[in-house]
Amino acid sequence: MNMVQLFEKKKQGLELSQAEIQYFVEGYTTGSIPDYQASSLLMAIRLLGMSDDETFYLTKAMIESGDVIDLTSIEGFKIDKHSTGGGVGDKVTLVVTPIIAALGIPVAKFSGKGLGITGGGTIDKLESIQGFKTELSSQEFIDNVNQHKIAVAGQTGNLVPADKKLYALRDVTGTVDSIPLIAASIMSKKIASGADGIVLDVKCGSGAFMKTQEEAQRLADTMTAIGEKLGRKVIAHISDMDNPLGKMIGNKLEVVEAYALLSGRLEETHEDLVDECVVIASLMYQIAAGVNEAEATAAVKGVLADGSAAAKFEEFIVAQGGVVSDIVQNDTAHKVAVTAVSEGTVETINALLVGEASVSLGAGRLTKESKLDYDAGIQLIAKKGDHVTNGDTIAYLYSNQPIDEETINKIQQAYTIA
Ligand code: URA
Repeated sequence: MNMVQLFEKKKQGLELSQAEIQYFVEGYTTGSIPDYQASSLLMAIRLLGMSDDETFYLTKAMIESGDVIDLTSIEGFKIDKHSTGGGVGDKVTLVVTPIIAALGIPVAKFSGKGLGITGGGTIDKLESIQGFKTELSSQEFIDNVNQHKIAVAGQTGNLVPADKKLYALRDVTGTVDSIPLIAASIMSKKIASGADGIVLDVKCGSGAFMKTQEEAQRLADTMTAIGEKLGRKVIAHISDMDNPLGKMIGNKLEVVEAYALLSGRLEETHEDLVDECVVIASLMYQIAAGVNEAEATAAVKGVLADGSAAAKFEEFIVAQGGVVSDIVQNDTAHKVAVTAVSEGTVETINALLVGEASVSLGAGRLTKESKLDYDAGIQLIAKKGDHVTNGDTIAYLYSNQPIDEETINKIQQAYTIA
């Protein structure tokens, strides 16, 4: 078998066999297939797609490229969630994981660092808390879940090494936005992470990979089918990502907002985030506990109202070495108020532009080596539907480096005021 034969088959519109897909994934992961041949196949997949069987074989081969985490020593149904990316201001994981743990369901979650316009990932956000440790040994991870019902750790070295190499190549060859490639990338990591059930938050809109409802639905269906074929319970939910979620964008700022929401200080957050968190937490509880939507939603709102979700969040932070009193917004060297340039109602806030501005402020990475400014970010004062007049403050920008005009203009452009 060789790569040229695979190209010929793909060009003729034929399906690749399981053995051929395994050959490609193994060969690329171990280095016997060079980048230029892998890029060519990835572009063919990006342009021609993959059948359901091909996507399934790709996922399986990627899982088999590295370690699979064994969570069987954790009692109960282990639940995980994953967002498909493009979530500007997406701190849903920080809110829903303690809610689910407070309901007695074990949450064993591996998360990634962020790259690109979405700003930091969940791991970056948690690392913005003084002392918080995201590198846990397997035993520490399992002990924490057994004792506290929650642990969130960075992905270990050898979990789906094929994805690390393929994702890095896709990133520089214009082949990220492919439904089969995204589905295999996400599902291989989720399955290898060992959870019994997975809730997929499929983002759709300007800030996301999937721009239309139809594409988002196809990605959701593809991922659900893969999970079910591999014996996992999976539910997908499609959520709007035309607008940033909540009020805060930036690593520490998002932790502060998540903690405020859990603690019932709803004036510090926005109902779009609250609603999204209730929906995702309710889906997680439905598949883990086998209850219906109404029961799950009531249970989720219950632990938010009685303070047990906030207490669980604090317990989780302390269990991983973090200092709860550090979850406050720090002053930054520079702060700029962005003002409205016209009067009217905020029709939309372009998530892509807000994401790009947050990266310029230091809240996200442009390359894997970029250093984050944990306190940098954006506070949205005016949200979709709010009325503003010319000169009103619509957002604050925070950074420890000087804030340039381009970033300020970007936020003004992000607001469509009608
Ligand atoms: N997130 C992933 O983990 N992989 C993709 O391909 C896209 C988003």
